[in-house]
Amino acid sequence: MAPGPEDEKNPRPLDADDIALLKTYGLGPYSASIKKVEKEIKEMAKKINDLCGIKESDTGLAAPSQWDLVSDKQMMQEEQPLQVARCTKIINPNTEDAKYVINVKQIAKFVVGLGDKVSPTDIEEGMRVGVDRNKYQIQIPLPPKIDPSVTMMTVEEKPDVTYNDVGGCKEQIEKMREVVELPMLHPEKFVKLGIDPPKGVLCYGPPGTGKTLLARAVANRTDACFIRVIGSELVQKYVGEGARMVRELFQMARSKKACIVFFDEVDAIGGARFDDGVGGDNEVQRTMLEIVNQLDGFDARGNIKVLMATNRPDTLDPALLRPGRLDRKVEFGLPDLEGRTQIFKIHTKTMNCERDIRFELLARLCPNSTGADIRSVCTEAGMFAIRARRKTVTEKDFLDAVNKVIKGYQKFSATPKYMVYN
Ligand SMILES: Nc1ncnc2c1ncn2[C@@H]1O[C@H](COP(=O)(O)OP(=O)(O)OP(=O)(O)O)[C@@H](O)[C@H]1O
Ligand SMILES: [Mg+2]
Repeated sequence: MAPGPEDEKNPRPLDADDIALLKTYGLGPYSASIKKVEKEIKEMAKKINDLCGIKESDTGLAAPSQWDLVSDKQMMQEEQPLQVARCTKIINPNTEDAKYVINVKQIAKFVVGLGDKVSPTDIEEGMRVGVDRNKYQIQIPLPPKIDPSVTMMTVEEKPDVTYNDVGGCKEQIEKMREVVELPMLHPEKFVKLGIDPPKGVLCYGPPGTGKTLLARAVANRTDACFIRVIGSELVQKYVGEGARMVRELFQMARSKKACIVFFDEVDAIGGARFDDGVGGDNEVQRTMLEIVNQLDGFDARGNIKVLMATNRPDTLDPALLRPGRLDRKVEFGLPDLEGRTQIFKIHTKTMNCERDIRFELLARLCPNSTGADIRSVCTEAGMFAIRARRKTVTEKDFLDAVNKVIKGYQKFSATPKYMVYN
């Protein structure tokens, strides 16, 4: 059957008239003329502006001829800076004539009302507020005071380490994720079962086994705010302030939706309490006690997780370690053969190596070595290649490097010492 011109399947192609007609759909009777008038108005406004001398400037300032410096100055003088005060008590809260007791530091206490721009629901007892200098009325609620050096500890730039960069340690990664990610992603599972998720994890193991590395991988994976605290910094940098820093740190953590606090080298602060014969009021111990206190203080279902890392778990205070504070203890052991092979592969990924290097053989040649040792082997192999003015690293370089690093540096290895302590 020959298809007719008006057939369902082969519609007649549209010609110019049809298109012109289609274009008028949705237009009102006067659309065209309204458009024209709008354009004329715009042009007229532009002409007027040109004649007045107003130019469009990218600073957003008006033309100098329109400045009114005198009244601007007057306005600035009327608007005084506010004073910071603390609202200590609310009298008759939730009523029409609520009054607020404020405490202005070093001046006095006042009973005041609210300014025009604040609503009563914004002000709570114990809050910092801004008050004006005449009638001391409360003008704005202020955020809690947090030491800027605490804010500096948040890790904003995510480290570029992922779980794939950690060789071996499968079990450890699994345990860590269970504690850190599961309660944040599926809190309802814990609620349903009626148990509290663990509050924190202690990572311990010989130096160079990837404790800090794994924490960095966690920081990279999570969307939660990540705060990194170095133990020695708490006691050294802020002498006499350690306990306060810890308190403010947790205060800040609580103000976030979800937060992970990572204490690295926690043995610097978490040492077992001892009597030094002087009265036992020790700065380090006070800092540690504050941590213990804060660990108890927050609700575990609240989204704060505490990670700690150390290579001297034996020196830590038992109070810090008891279940309920740090429930999980994850040991980082020496990597096994498979782990070592993987670590070799990770560290040579970016290196310019010969093909078919027998990493498994290399891994076999480094028994009892840590991830850091293996990394050092890779670096040394690269150094051998540079010395020989080659552009690629050969298997021979690796074997030489193994000899040099594993055999030669054995007496510096920290692992045997660690084994003695634990
Ligand atoms: N499992 C691993 N996979 C890949 N690289 C590793 C691994 N373990 C250690 N490394 C390498 O060793 C380096 C040091 O590891 P890391 O800083 O995690 O040691 P640590 O366990 O924190 O030691 P310390 O107790 O001395 O602080 C890392 O930067 C990484 O390059
Ligand atoms: Mg470390």
